[in-house]
Order: sequence, then structure tokens, then C-alpha cells
Amino acid sequence: MREPHDSVPIQEDDMDEKIKELRERARIAITETATTLGELSDIRVKFLGKKGEMTSLLRSMSALVAEERPRIGKIVNEARAELEELLAAKSEELSYRELEERMARERIDVTLPGRTAPVGHLHPLTITLNRIKHIFLSMGFTVEEGPEIERDYFNFEALNLPKDHPARDMQDSFYITEDILLRSQTSPVQARTMQKNEPNTPIRMIAPGRVYRRDSYDATHSPMFTQVEGLVIDKGLSFADLKGTLELCLHELFDKDVKVRFRPSFFPFTEPSTEVDISCASCRGAGCRVCKGTGWLEILGAGMVHPNVLRMSGYDPEVVSGFAFGMGVERIAMLAYGVDDLRLFYDNDVRFLHQF
Ligand code: PHE
Repeated sequence: MREPHDSVPIQEDDMDEKIKELRERARIAITETATTLGELSDIRVKFLGKKGEMTSLLRSMSALVAEERPRIGKIVNEARAELEELLAAKSEELSYRELEERMARERIDVTLPGRTAPVGHLHPLTITLNRIKHIFLSMGFTVEEGPEIERDYFNFEALNLPKDHPARDMQDSFYITEDILLRSQTSPVQARTMQKNEPNTPIRMIAPGRVYRRDSYDATHSPMFTQVEGLVIDKGLSFADLKGTLELCLHELFDKDVKVRFRPSFFPFTEPSTEVDISCASCRGAGCRVCKGTGWLEILGAGMVHPNVLRMSGYDPEVVSGFAFGMGVERIAMLAYGVDDLRLFYDNDVRFLHQF
């Protein structure tokens, strides 16, 4: 037996055998044993590394006789090249497999329906109010506001309702002091707007807002509800302008072929006064529970502005004329959405609100 460090030249057969054996072991390690990139890297170090088996084998070539070196060197290089190739192929295979495994692990099923966060939305009264506003804004009206805690003067007196006028009983109001009350209608905004202006300045305005009356709380009454007031003042306005404006509004709010009816009525601040009905959408005029058998639904009050009202707010009824109207927003929303109990608008039961 010779030791590798012996200076005696080793047999070339021996060398051939060693290379063959090493090449075979490395081949199996690379192609069969390695299951991860980490293991593969260890195998590379073990065989081809600086202190690897192949390297030591090359070193031992120095013990070969000179003539043999080129041949053995060639075999070693071939073996080396083959192993490098195998390593590269295996490395690619393993990376691909690891990537596939990772993708399987981190897979997201994009076909699952997403979780949508519940988003709030507008209250049916707000929707109705917005629709009304939109109709009048598109006709060039402005939107005015007035206080809910109002002076008796604006709520009644300036509207041709002096103290002790019997018509004050039409609206049983909440008084705070003798002169201050919760407004019982949005009509005081008429007087406020006129008084804000230079006398006889044309007006085209609506005034939406809450009003308060001493009413019971049931399916059709509430001590608080919402109105939209309207006031138009200019030279030469007539009842025809009132009719045209309100018909347009109601056709827009309900249906193009809803019928509109003007009935004579009384309000202290308008003369002549009218109440406006639309044909019942539930029974198409035949008569049903909703319209109490009449085929008609009362929808708003209106009239030509009373000369006293103009005069009291500095306008001259000899120079200008006007018309005014007031509509109940809850009532319109009830009819538009088929809601049969007013209280549903205030209870804020999400099961109800959800439907709009
Ligand atoms: N203010 C009246 C009411 O609340 C409605 C109305 C407004 C009538 C304007 C005529 C003109 O009943």
C-alpha cells in the first residue's frame, strides 16, 4: 500500500478508478440525494469546493508521472464540467419547485367575494328634499334659510295674521314666550327674505326646513315635520305662473302623467289661495284606502301673495305680484315611496332605512 504523500508515482489506473468513483458518487448526490437548494449547495462544497474531494484529487495529480498528467487532467475537467452542468440543472429544478411550493402556500383565491364594509346612505327624507331642491335650483331658485325658533312677528303677524286673528288656530303652535315660538310653518322665511332685500327686488326662492305643531304622533301626524316653502315675486306674475311652476314640479317629482288639481282654499297670506292635489298613484284615481276613496291626494298649499304681506315687508303690490307655496316633505316621501306610516321616518330603524 502506498500513502498519497508517497513520492512514488501512483498508478494511472488507480487515478482513473478514483475519478470514476467520485464522479459517480457526486452524480447520485446531485441528482438523487439533494432535495433542497441548501443541500445542493452543501454537495457542491463537498465535491467541487476549495477543500472538496475533486480539488484534493487534482492536487494528488502532482504524484502522477508527467506524461499522464494531461490525460488525467482532461478526465478530471470533464468530470468537473459534467458535475457543474448537473448542479446547474438541479439548481434550476429545485428553485422552480420551491417557487411552486411557495406559490401554493401563499395562494390567494381571488374568486372569493370580497368583504364589503357597510356604507351609510342618505335618509329617505334627505333624498326627497334633495330632489325637490334640484327641481327648483334648475329653475333658477335660490335656497333660503330661517330660524326654527322664530318670532311671532315673522311666523304670523308679517303674514297677515294679527294677534287674535282666528286663523292662528289653524296651526296650534309651541310658544316659548309670548313673542317667541317654534315656527309652525316655513312661511316666515318669505317675510324675512323680502325684508332682507331692497323693496320690489324680484325673488325666486325656496326655504326647506323643520316646523313644529301641537299635533298628536300617529301614522299621519307628527309634532315636528319638514316643509319646503316657495316664493316668487316679480312684475306681472299671475296665477298661471303658479300653476305652471307647481305642475312642472309635481310632474318631475312623481310621474309625467300624474294628474294635478287646484282646489280653492284659504290661507291668510295668499289671495286667492289653493290646495293642490295629485291623482292617487295607488289606485290611479279609482279610489282606495290611501286616498280615502277620493282618487286624489292633497300635496301642497299655495296662492298669490296677499297685498298686505307684500306691503308689510316693504314691497309695493301696485308694482309687483307674487305667488307662494308650501309642501310637506314627509307626505311627498310617503307617496313617492309607498310608505304608510309617517313615524317610520323618525324611528330610524335600519331595516326600514336600508331600503332606500
Ligand atoms: N304655510 C302653509 C301651511 O303650512 C302652506 C302655504 C305656504 C300656503 C305658502 C300658501 C302659501 O299650511
